[in-house]
Amino acid sequence: MDHTMPDAYTVRAAIALAVRAPSVHNSQPWDWRFAGRTVELRTDPRRHLRNTDPDGRDLLVSCGCALHHFTVAAAATGWAAQVHRLPDPAEPGLLARIDLVPHDTRDGDIALAAAIPRRRSDRRRFAHRPLLVRDEVLLQKSAADHGAALCVVAGAPQLSALTSAAAEAGGLHRADPDYAIELAAWSGRNHAPDGVPAQNAIQSHTAVRELRVRDFADARPDDTEGRDGAALTVLSTAGDSALDRLRAGEAASAVLLTATRLNLASCVYTEPLELTCTRGLIRDCVLDGHGEPQLVVRIGYLPEGAAPLPATPRRPLGEVVRPVAHPYGIGLPIPAQLRGR
Ligand SMILES: Cc1cc2nc3c(=O)[nH]c(=O)nc-3n(C[C@H](O)[C@H](O)[C@H](O)COP(=O)(O)O)c2cc1C
Repeated sequence: MDHTMPDAYTVRAAIALAVRAPSVHNSQPWDWRFAGRTVELRTDPRRHLRNTDPDGRDLLVSCGCALHHFTVAAAATGWAAQVHRLPDPAEPGLLARIDLVPHDTRDGDIALAAAIPRRRSDRRRFAHRPLLVRDEVLLQKSAADHGAALCVVAGAPQLSALTSAAAEAGGLHRADPDYAIELAAWSGRNHAPDGVPAQNAIQSHTAVRELRVRDFADARPDDTEGRDGAALTVLSTAGDSALDRLRAGEAASAVLLTATRLNLASCVYTEPLELTCTRGLIRDCVLDGHGEPQLVVRIGYLPEGAAPLPATPRRPLGEVVRPVAHPYGIGLPIPAQLRGR
């Protein structure tokens, strides 16, 4: 037995945790292949939500989340992931080639991996309890470790710009029939392996100066009372290339898992970043022109006694993972003596 090579069960187990990552409308737009110590992550272009996400930002961010989830899961099972992002310019859909090498698992690796099945996108109102400074620093560090910045929006003008951008984006989307058809197809679902289930969707908050969440189909009323006390954060990157978007997804995953580990509730929100005009508003008026906004993340405490949220479903692993018969790993030349076998 080669102890420097992960077995297929270990790789599949790590991918099974990776696909618990959040994705836009729970579209799970990924395609995994592996052989030997090498794992490849591709986008699944059939799952690109063209009317919600015309420039493909959410698609890449979603895959970035899954990529980071994979590295966390691998580390917890004794494998460090050496990630080569966008390794082949001729194949832009190939987002990462990952080589697994032996790794001494630490307590922190296990704690972060344990957060994966506990994390939920929680759209309910959060309690009025400010984040601890210590937790805010840890969240910002988790983003910075992946090349992104996490800005906690605190000033009244910035909060007002963010909530206005969200309201404007909601209005523009409601007036767009193609967007509405796509949203209806991907939400309000029951017993489907993808999409946003009705039980996880909450009716939009309409109070003035509250962040309006996305209007999913068949959303239920919020059972938490009062105004939303969530901390609103914007995750940004220096540029806006495909690599920046992928890295933003990795950073978002790190922030969400760190939040879960700290027993904080969270939810990603990207509606105002899907439209050029409201994205520009957030860049200029919330980030003061510093960096490219990639996601908004609500973070906070659930009110006392809030019921646990059910997990959203995922597609069967067999649909998203393909073992590739190649004893030397993917992307490597096959030795001449093995060719044609
Ligand atoms: C790129 C991206 C964009 C998202 N945008 C929103 C959004 O605008 N509003 C929202 O309520 N959830 C949003 N989500 C959360 C997804 O709907 C959620 O991850 C998915 O339904 C799976 O549920 P889970 O996160 O609880 O596992 C987004 C997630 C990602 C990764």
